[in-house]
Amino acid sequence: MGKRLLCVTLAIMSLVQYVSATSVICYHGTWSYYRTGNGKFVFSNVPTDLCTHYIYTFMGLDSSTSEVVSLDSWLDIDLGGITAAANLKVTNPDLKVLLAVGGWNAGSAEFSVMAADATKRATFIASALSWVQTYGLDGFDLDWEYPARRDSTNSADKENLSLLVQEFYEVFNPLGLLITAAVSVTPSSVDISYDVPVLSQYLDFINLMLYDFHGSWDTEAYHNAPLYSTSKLIGTEYADYSVNACVHGWIERGASPAKLALGVPFYGRTTVLSSSSNTAPGSASTSTGGAAGPYTATSGFLGYNEIVEKFNAGGWTTAWDDEQQVPYAYSGTTWLSYDDEDSIALKVEYAKSLGLGAIMIWSIETEDFLGLNGTQYPLLTTIQNTLGSSISSSSTTSTSTSTTSTTAASTTASTTSTTAAMTSTAAASSATTASTTTTSTPTASSSVGSSSTSTLIADANSCTSTGYFGSSANSNIYFYCQLVNGAYVGVTMSCVTSLVYDSDLGVCVYP
Ligand SMILES: *[C@@H]1O[C@H](CO)[C@@H](O)[C@H](O)[C@H]1NC(C)=O
Ligand SMILES: *[C@@H]1O[C@H](CO)[C@@H](O)[C@H](O)[C@H]1NC(C)=O
Repeated sequence: MGKRLLCVTLAIMSLVQYVSATSVICYHGTWSYYRTGNGKFVFSNVPTDLCTHYIYTFMGLDSSTSEVVSLDSWLDIDLGGITAAANLKVTNPDLKVLLAVGGWNAGSAEFSVMAADATKRATFIASALSWVQTYGLDGFDLDWEYPARRDSTNSADKENLSLLVQEFYEVFNPLGLLITAAVSVTPSSVDISYDVPVLSQYLDFINLMLYDFHGSWDTEAYHNAPLYSTSKLIGTEYADYSVNACVHGWIERGASPAKLALGVPFYGRTTVLSSSSNTAPGSASTSTGGAAGPYTATSGFLGYNEIVEKFNAGGWTTAWDDEQQVPYAYSGTTWLSYDDEDSIALKVEYAKSLGLGAIMIWSIETEDFLGLNGTQYPLLTTIQNTLGSSISSSSTTSTSTSTTSTTAASTTASTTSTTAAMTSTAAASSATTASTTTTSTPTASSSVGSSSTSTLIADANSCTSTGYFGSSANSNIYFYCQLVNGAYVGVTMSCVTSLVYDSDLGVCVYP
């Protein structure tokens, strides 16, 4: 009985994240420790009150043993990097601290070899668990960039990644540990690399890397991370290189919106224009990166903190791209696409409108953490303020859904620290506070789909308002309805095998 109750509790805890309050997932490129001057960012610079999840990057994969290994034992171990990360929970006990393996530099081939062999997968998972438990962390983040692409051409990667993620879930979930992954985002790469429904079912969050769409490698100057696609690229292979097109691509392929984390870059990309008099987006460029910044030291790339310093030094003209809803700037022939408080606020509003579960940041060490443009952490603060503002106005249905599931979690499981983390960061909002004080009366049915009287609908074509709805025909099925171009569109989702959708609680439960 006790065990069964625990299972139910854990199942609800994990599934509640389908429809939970918006999390803020902060990646940290820990090598920022070695930067100098204003670029040096150490663990005490991590704003633990502005993130709900902190991810330490990057560990490596040892191809001979299939184990997770330190790539920089001086920083990770000798200087106490991972311990310092774990200790971030001292200032915010609700912060979830995860360790990431992989990243761009790790390539894809070694992951492919590991994932293709059941024994190697088990070894990998056991070593990940060992790191997590040794340091008292909350979970693990997989950054295999990318299955069946780059230096891995194994078309079985997609299926084998699904097995790896499922096996991770089976080990981590019963222990209350999180498993997340960073993924590539464009529809064509998703089709090659990911079984979306499986990832959506077993991962706690799918971190969408919604940036690096364009850069100095292109022959025209386009934006690093546009919210909307540009009409100039319609009909080309780049037509869906935008946050909007890619997020919809994931949802259309079966991702639960609440499992998706909308990635926001705290950096910009530079390219050298062919002519300093043609500066509009889409102008010809020389396929050369602009000069490296003083801290990130990478041609074609500038951290937001480096952008602030450059703008403060003068000589830049800034502009706003109305179509793509992002800023850009230029100085002579150097063209910069970047994100600022305005574009990030729009992306957060966008995430809220679709009921996405999280905002993800790559990466916090290039935030304006010193406040060189006025206030410290302006971008993270913008994210929190934008999330908070809708919660207090409680005008959007997706927020109601989130608040409701927080309530359900609180009544069901006293150990939902993930939920607690989400709630505490939004504590400024009175509405959130109110929802947590009324945990004894979960009233999801009244807020899920507030303009509808029924919480059950026939099928995905029967949506008449935004929110989550159960299926009147099949208790295992539910729908996420949203307004797209003036019409309600539904996405069909199913509970994990053996669970049914409870439309009062807004989560999947044991029947
Ligand atoms: C994983 O990929 C390999 C090919 O590399 C394939 O032989 C294998 O069947 C796949 N699935 C499993 C369960 O390992
Ligand atoms: C610096 O702050 C000003 C005033 O808030 C703002 O307009 C500008 O966009 C900021 N700079 C950057 C690089 O975001």
